[in-house]
Amino acid sequence: MAQHRRRDVLKSGGVVAAAVMVPLAGTEPAAAAPGAPRAAQPRAVADLTLSVNGTRHRLPGVEARVTLLDALREQAGLTGTKKGCDRGECGACTVLVDGRRVKSCLTLAVMQEGRSITTIEGLAQGAELHPVQEAFVRRDAFQCGICTPGQIMSAVACIEEGHTGSEDEIREWMSGNLCRCSCYPNIVDAVADAAKAVRR
Ligand code: FES
Ligand code: FES
Repeated sequence: MAQHRRRDVLKSGGVVAAAVMVPLAGTEPAAAAPGAPRAAQPRAVADLTLSVNGTRHRLPGVEARVTLLDALREQAGLTGTKKGCDRGECGACTVLVDGRRVKSCLTLAVMQEGRSITTIEGLAQGAELHPVQEAFVRRDAFQCGICTPGQIMSAVACIEEGHTGSEDEIREWMSGNLCRCSCYPNIVDAVADAAKAVRR
C-alpha cells in the first residue's frame, strides 16, 4: 500500500518534473506484440542535495521513489535514524524537517531538497549530549534502543511545541512513537526532565 501512496505522490506532480527520466536497461520502447506483457515504466532519477545537520549531502542518482529514510541511511550514511515498520506506524524513523517532526519513511527524499533536516546525529554538541539525550540516559528510558532515536527527535519537537504541561499531555503528543520494550513511564519522565532543563 505504501508503494501505491508513493506512486500517487509522484503522479501528483512537482517531483517528476524536476527529475531526469531514465529508461531501465533493456526496456527501450518497442512495438509490443499483441498480448505481450507491458514493458517496465521508466524510473525517474535525480541528483539531490539534502541539508542534514547543517551539512550539505550530495546524493547522485536518487530514484524518485526513494524515501527520506532510505536516502539518509543508505546514501548519506546516517544510520542513526531507524527503520521499524517502514509504513508510518511506529515513529522509529522520526526526524525534524524545518523543526517539525516527520516520519521519514512516509516522505520522498526528492521532496526535502532545500529544507533543513535534523537527525539524531545532529543533536549533540561534540561530546556534550542534548538535554533530551542526557535525560533518556539518566532515566534509563530505553532497552533495545530501536525506537530511541525517533523518541528523542519527537521529544525535542514536543518540548519545542510546548506540549509538556503534564504527563498526560506528554503521552498524548508522543503517541506517534511506539516502544515495543514498553519503556513509556521512563520516556515520559525523561521528556518531563528535559523540558525543565531546556527551559532553564
Ligand atoms: S519506520 Fe517510519 S513510522 Fe515506522
Ligand atoms: S527501547 Fe526497544 S523499542 Fe523502545
